[in-house]
Amino acid sequence: MMLQGNGRREFLQGVAGWGLVYAAGSFLSPALAEGQNPPPPEPPDTTWKTTIVPAGEPGEPLVVEGRVFAPDGQHTVAGVVVYAYNTDKEGYYSPDGKVGHPRLKGYMKTDAEGRFELHTIRPGRYPGMHIPAHIHFNLWGAGYPVQWTEELRFEGDSYLTDAMESESGALGKFATIRPVTRDKGGVFHCEINLRLQEKSNFPGH
Ligand SMILES: [Fe+2]
Repeated sequence: MMLQGNGRREFLQGVAGWGLVYAAGSFLSPALAEGQNPPPPEPPDTTWKTTIVPAGEPGEPLVVEGRVFAPDGQHTVAGVVVYAYNTDKEGYYSPDGKVGHPRLKGYMKTDAEGRFELHTIRPGRYPGMHIPAHIHFNLWGAGYPVQWTEELRFEGDSYLTDAMESESGALGKFATIRPVTRDKGGVFHCEINLRLQEKSNFPGH
C-alpha cells in the first residue's frame, strides 16, 4: 500500500508513530486515532538538548542539531517545545508491538537562538515496507499550538523517491531530506530547520 503526496504524508504522520500495528500491515484504527492525539505535556526540566536513547541502545549514534523558525521562515523562536521520536534500529516504535507512545522519544525547548539538539540513534526502516527511515517532530509553545512537522529523512536512503527529493528540495532551507556526516568518533550528525505554522494540524487542536 503506497499513498502519494500530501495524502500519504498526512496518513503516515498520523499513524506511523504508533507502533508495530503499522509495520504488521494492519493500518486502521486504533492506530490512526491514537496517532492523531498530541503527546503529553513536556516535563518541567525540559531544556534545549536531550538524549532519547538509553545507554547501550543498539544502533549508530546520531545527533540532530535543529533550529525552529517562525512561520515567516526568517526569525528563530525561543521557548518552543520540540517533541521528537523515532524507531529503534530495526524500525520498530514499540518492542511489544502494542499501539501507544513510542519508546524512543523526548522533549526539548528551544534556546534563545531557537536551537535544539537531539541525541538519538539512526532509526531503522519499517520492516517489510518501502518507507524511508525518519524522525518525527511535534512542536508547541511560545504562542504556537501543538503541531506536527514534516519528518526528517536522510540523504542516501534507497527508499527515497524522486517525488520526495523534489518536494524536499523545493523547501530550500527547510528541506527535510538531510545530509548526514560521521565524525571521527563514529557519531553521525545532521541539521534541520523546522518551520512553525500558526494553526495546529492535529484534528481538534
Ligand atoms: Fe514514523
